[in-house]
Amino acid sequence: MSVEKEMPRVIAMSSGKGGVGKTFFSVHLAAYAASQGKRVLLMDADLGLANVDVMLGVSAQGSVLEMVRGEKALQQLILPTREGFDVLPGGSGLYELTALDAGQQQVMMDEMRSVSSKYDLILIDVAAGIGDNVLYFVSAAESALVVLTPEPTSLTDAYALIKVLSRQRGVKRFMVVVNQAEAFDAQVTFRRLVSVADRYLDVHLDYVGHLPYAPEVRQAIQKQSLLKEQGSPLTRQALDTVLDSILARPRDVHRSGGLQFFWEHSLNEGLSVQAE
Ligand SMILES: Nc1ncnc2c1ncn2[C@@H]1O[C@H](COP(=O)(O)OP(=O)(O)OP(=O)(O)O)[C@@H](O)[C@H]1O
Ligand SMILES: [Mg+2]
Repeated sequence: MSVEKEMPRVIAMSSGKGGVGKTFFSVHLAAYAASQGKRVLLMDADLGLANVDVMLGVSAQGSVLEMVRGEKALQQLILPTREGFDVLPGGSGLYELTALDAGQQQVMMDEMRSVSSKYDLILIDVAAGIGDNVLYFVSAAESALVVLTPEPTSLTDAYALIKVLSRQRGVKRFMVVVNQAEAFDAQVTFRRLVSVADRYLDVHLDYVGHLPYAPEVRQAIQKQSLLKEQGSPLTRQALDTVLDSILARPRDVHRSGGLQFFWEHSLNEGLSVQAE
């Protein structure tokens, strides 16, 4: 039984600086993968501050807080969207969720494991920055994706995030998307990031593409709709190219991240129980 077949691919969508386009890419990647027949769960892990449900215009039926308190199962909180993927809303205004304690992380892990067989792809839209939840979710995922823009602060914050994840959590591979940039500027930004990372860190950065600044992105978000219903063909094509290259990347099944570890663990437990 191959791990690849049994376990959904889990990608954490992260950024150093906020407001660079994580939720935008998460929602569109989820919709794109769903349109290809993949069973997708998009989890809003910017806990305490709703992102995904607002962008999609869906209303949460409860919160992750009730789940980590053991009052609701994750399955009860998941919502279908008209785009054909499922969403786990993060809950809004819930300060208690902004730093999950070890017990809450364990509940989260167990609940995620309980739904994992229903999905081919799980996207985790994490908060900006280097908070505990961010480090927890990114290190638990199979793959980490970092979104940044050419702004100097976005670049330094992306570097800081990669540094903390690699030194403290052993995350060594990162997919990188440069948003709100033309091809040349995006390449320059990526090369700047690589040049510092190569000098000081033991990481591998994989450039997966760029998306130019496009006013219709803002318009789509304001209307709580996806770009495919709004955008110019050029912008949609540019976006699809990035999404395609993310999905085409080989899986990182050898990374022993938390979620992966737990899933593998439960798989083995299941097998040994049967054998007894
Ligand atoms: N390529 C783009 N062109 C124009 N505007 C964009 C583009 N990408 C993102 N935006 C705008 O930037 C804003 C922030 O995007 P988004 O909410 O996806 O960022 P985020 O990284 O999830 O932010 P946060 O850290 O607050 O969760 C959105 O309002 C969106 O309109
Ligand atoms: Mg967001």
